[in-house]
Amino acid sequence: MTDALTVRSRDLAQQAMDAMKAASGEAELAQVKSQYLGRSGSVTSMLKEIPKLPPDERRSAGTSINETKKHIEAVFAECRDALRGAALSQGSADPVDVTLAGRATWRGHSHPVTLAWDSICDIFSSMGYDIREGPEVETDWHCFEALNMPQGHPAREMQDTFYVADGVVLRTHTSPVQVRTMLHEAPPLRMICPGVVYRRDNDLTHTPMFHQVEGLVVDQGTTMAELKGTLAEFCRAFFGSETQVRFRPSYFPFTEPSAEVDISCVFCSGDGCRVCQSTGWLEVLGAGMVDPAVFASLGRPEYDPEGVQGFAFGMGIDRLAMLRYRIDDLRLLFENDVRMLEQF
Ligand code: FA5
Ligand code: MG
Repeated sequence: MTDALTVRSRDLAQQAMDAMKAASGEAELAQVKSQYLGRSGSVTSMLKEIPKLPPDERRSAGTSINETKKHIEAVFAECRDALRGAALSQGSADPVDVTLAGRATWRGHSHPVTLAWDSICDIFSSMGYDIREGPEVETDWHCFEALNMPQGHPAREMQDTFYVADGVVLRTHTSPVQVRTMLHEAPPLRMICPGVVYRRDNDLTHTPMFHQVEGLVVDQGTTMAELKGTLAEFCRAFFGSETQVRFRPSYFPFTEPSAEVDISCVFCSGDGCRVCQSTGWLEVLGAGMVDPAVFASLGRPEYDPEGVQGFAFGMGIDRLAMLRYRIDDLRLLFENDVRMLEQF
């Protein structure tokens, strides 16, 4: 049964449609819409009549009035788009003001560790070094054994290790990439490998995940003097031409002799301050001449310890970034506080 309200609502839909199609501009169109759908529009007032109907007619009346509303809204959108399209093609729409200032968009940028990483790669590439990579999950053999640290060797305790499975570790340094590279490539070799490493460490100057870059040169006449010259040149390129460099005797199982390398403190230029603990020097890396035992563990004739010599070095990229950008807590690098990161 079609009741009176339903019939009226269909009539209203038709009227509204005709009126909207006849509208000559957006303002008039909006006015027509509000005549029907506005707070005191005719469709709205019909909705208010529903409660007065006999109960069995209310439902169908409600449905058809709602359909009318939807229909009017759809026709409104259609007419509005048509009017806008017409206005644009006639050139009467508001023109775009191309002289308005643009809205600033927030741009991201590289993390200080990434900046340091890239700059280290650039400096060594310019000295003729190739860049190599290796896995972060590493075998005990590549990470320790082949580097002259057999099971039970006390030096293993210098680096607190995360074990993944029996004989499998998260690499504690980038040195296993030396081993991997030498297993696949013959000398002469001149390479660096930046990468992520892991240790069970966590305080102001140690984080459980950090970045190192390893360097390795193997050739017939490679010397300690070349190592020293290379690292001094690197430190001046990275920290500035005034930087002083010194070598201190040290110990690593995979190099002999070994050295730790200090630079003049970037905070006080060597006068002595809190950061350098009044010494005027900051430790930045470890290095040395490749121990013949490392060459021997490769089992490759090309790396006969009687025929080739090499040097290697390893540095903490995060430490280098801290010193270069004057950040005094290593952990700040990994909290990703935008207020900190924005400054670079
Ligand atoms: C090594 O890891 C040696 N493999 C380096 C090396 C390579 C020596 C080749 C000789 C020849 P060491 O444990 O000192 O050495 O670490 C090297 C650098 O990594 C340190 O100077 C320091 O800058 C950085 N580093 C070490 N532990 C952490 C840590 N927990 N958080 C951040 N940086 C660290
Ligand atoms: Mg050290």
